[in-house]
Amino acid sequence: DETRIIQAEDDDMKDAVREAVALLEGGDIVALPTETVYGLGADAFNPEAVAKVFEAKERPSFDPLIVHISHARQLEEVAVVPPEIEETVRKLISAYWPGPLTLVLPKTDRIPDLVTSGQPTVAVRQSAHRVFRGIGKQLGRPIAAPSANRFGRISPTSASAVMKELGGRIPLIVDAGACRDGLESTIIRIEPGEKKPVIHVLRPGPVTKKELQNFGRVIVEKKRLIDAPEAPGQLASHYAPRTPLLMFERPDDFHPEAGKRYGLLSYKEDPKAGYLHRHEWAVVEALSPGSGKLAEAAVRLFHVMRVLDEAGLDAIVAEPVSETGLGQAIMDRLRRASTP
Ligand code: TXA
Ligand code: MG
Repeated sequence: DETRIIQAEDDDMKDAVREAVALLEGGDIVALPTETVYGLGADAFNPEAVAKVFEAKERPSFDPLIVHISHARQLEEVAVVPPEIEETVRKLISAYWPGPLTLVLPKTDRIPDLVTSGQPTVAVRQSAHRVFRGIGKQLGRPIAAPSANRFGRISPTSASAVMKELGGRIPLIVDAGACRDGLESTIIRIEPGEKKPVIHVLRPGPVTKKELQNFGRVIVEKKRLIDAPEAPGQLASHYAPRTPLLMFERPDDFHPEAGKRYGLLSYKEDPKAGYLHRHEWAVVEALSPGSGKLAEAAVRLFHVMRVLDEAGLDAIVAEPVSETGLGQAIMDRLRRASTP
């Protein structure tokens, strides 16, 4: 079956919005741009539509989806905010919504169990992307949308990347160009604490630990196991290219095998960093060429991983980035992508 791409132009997104809404209303699935990565959307209240998302992605049904609302008042349709954390939730929402922050909250009965994989909680966010918001508002219902890649693979940050992942499996991709952030949203769960609320980061993302510290004590959860699925998507191996991706603490730890083609996923192609001169790389791709800016690196990460994955290499060697600010989310994705 054919997958169409429809452009949502800056000055005219009406046709794209109309087509996407018609499909969603009919219980179909559509790839949609968000400010983080492209999502594969379905009407969150329609379990048959949600089932199509799992099928297209080949996603195991124990990995729940994020529900996207388009008005703050829609929150009560999907989630219940416990009174003990209400103030913190309110502050976080007013600081970051619409935007790349996802809250895990108790779900309402309207959310099908399939969306949450049978868990009593739902992950909710409000996307800041104008096209996504336009579609959500016109639909008037929340949209369940995981990233628009096949399960365990690299998240798409452009319509062409979605096409490579899901072409032939979905009817429509709404193309609004490259994603602004390039990394999936920060996912948190809030608990009341003794002095301050406790914010558990289940997945690091564009909203950083430092920013969240203004709202409570922040605990960044360590890797989760497959069978302890509080954040079931946080499977040890995720966002993975097909080519093995290796990461070493120090450049000296890398011992290339003779005759193999290696590509370097470099941070800024810094000759002093040691990786560049370590080896005759078949390909070098930099996340933030020259300048070494974490924001630029985040935006380019999945694109660069995809380019290297398509270069016919024996392995990709990723240079670690500093784990400050956005670097924490970048390193989280690199570790999950890397081969044990
Ligand atoms: O930026 C994003 O969050 C993108 C865009 C499309 O919004 N979406 C996204 O969805 O990254 P996905 O499905 O690829 O990742 C959602 C993550 C999964 O790791 C899942 O396990 C976790 O959210 N999650 C969903 N519901 C949860 C819940 N009730 N409790 C804990 N984790 C949950
Ligand atoms: Mg994903």
